[in-house]
Amino acid sequence: MYVPPRVLTNDDLAQRVETSHTWIVERTGIERRHIADRETSATMAIEAARAALQVADADPRDIDLILVATATPDYLMPSTACLVQDALGAIRAGAVDLNAGCSGFVYALAMANQAIASGEHRLVLVIGVEKLSCMVDWQDRSTCVLFGDGAGAVLLRAAEGRSGILASLLGADGSGADLLIIPAGGSAQPPSLETVEKRLHYLRMNGREVFRFATRVVPRAIEQVAEKAGLTVRDIDLVIAHQANLRILEAVAKRLGLPMERFVVNLQEYGNTSAASVPIALCEAVQNGRIQPGQHLVLVGFGAGLTWAAVALKWSEAPARLAVPRFHNLLRSILYRWAAWRTRLRQLLRRLAVEGIRRAERRGKPPS
Ligand code: COA
Repeated sequence: MYVPPRVLTNDDLAQRVETSHTWIVERTGIERRHIADRETSATMAIEAARAALQVADADPRDIDLILVATATPDYLMPSTACLVQDALGAIRAGAVDLNAGCSGFVYALAMANQAIASGEHRLVLVIGVEKLSCMVDWQDRSTCVLFGDGAGAVLLRAAEGRSGILASLLGADGSGADLLIIPAGGSAQPPSLETVEKRLHYLRMNGREVFRFATRVVPRAIEQVAEKAGLTVRDIDLVIAHQANLRILEAVAKRLGLPMERFVVNLQEYGNTSAASVPIALCEAVQNGRIQPGQHLVLVGFGAGLTWAAVALKWSEAPARLAVPRFHNLLRSILYRWAAWRTRLRQLLRRLAVEGIRRAERRGKPPS
């Protein structure tokens, strides 16, 4: 995982908009959030991906597919996944972005699993990343207190046996598209002076409706994915849900009859990091020793679209982090440097080729 070092507390926010630490904590559970400074979605994704490659002791050249779940890509075009692919030197990998709002990472995880189960791919990198701080209206107190920036990544490898991902489900209800939306900047309302003046490039949300949607859909998704995996809700050792609001998580736990100890909660530190929240929570749970081999986990996301997604899995083994030989890390850092040089070289060669064609055209000769 990667989160920017810069921290914005509730008290900091209270100096910008009419709000208070007490209001934010009581209504959401959030105490602070990490806000990107010079980082972009791609740079945060690359940091998280490199950390995942190190933990798994994997070679970036072995990655078959890179899926980046994000609603805040660096550019509308090209995909952030391609920027990640280039920086990792993942020369054999296909790369694509996926936007399912805050459900994005769990969507991508389910799709990565299908890609492996089909036999088409063996090693898939799945990243959830978000830089929502640049899409949030810092004058709107009902949304700006909620969100933060960050990235989380996992590597999925083909393996035999009944562990790993056991079941998944994906859901959508586009009739709620207007409940959580960035109205302008796309083809419906391309950027113009008017869209900027009306602040239409910022995220807008109907908080109450989204809250009602989440508390209705998430418990059902958890029950359904557990059943698909041949489990009961009681068999679930840990739920890693999208970290939007503590009250949502409490309502979900109550509906399922599960104690809150079975839920990972870290939103007090990071706020809602959208597609990054589930992999960040997963990563912290591993680091804190909360996840042990043999345990059953459910990962569940919900958000813009409206969308929801759930994955049930059996955690099979502890990460190989302690056993990674140091020269493997050295080799990876050489590969990353080489990837950067290769890119510069290719861009230079392309520029020279274009210049050559222009010169030939000026001389009246057709380019060879
Ligand atoms: N500080 C102080 N007051 C605030 C405030 C803030 N940051 N934001 C809103 N308020 C005020 C409102 O203006 C309103 O005042 P009014 O009664 O005078 O009109 C009052 O608080 C209640 O607003 P309301 O929107 O009804 O609050 P709420 O209890 O529904 O909580 C959310 C608001 C956003 C915290 C809550 O709806 C929520 O968490 N929704 C889900 C959002 C979410 O998780 N989205 C991401 C999903 S991926």
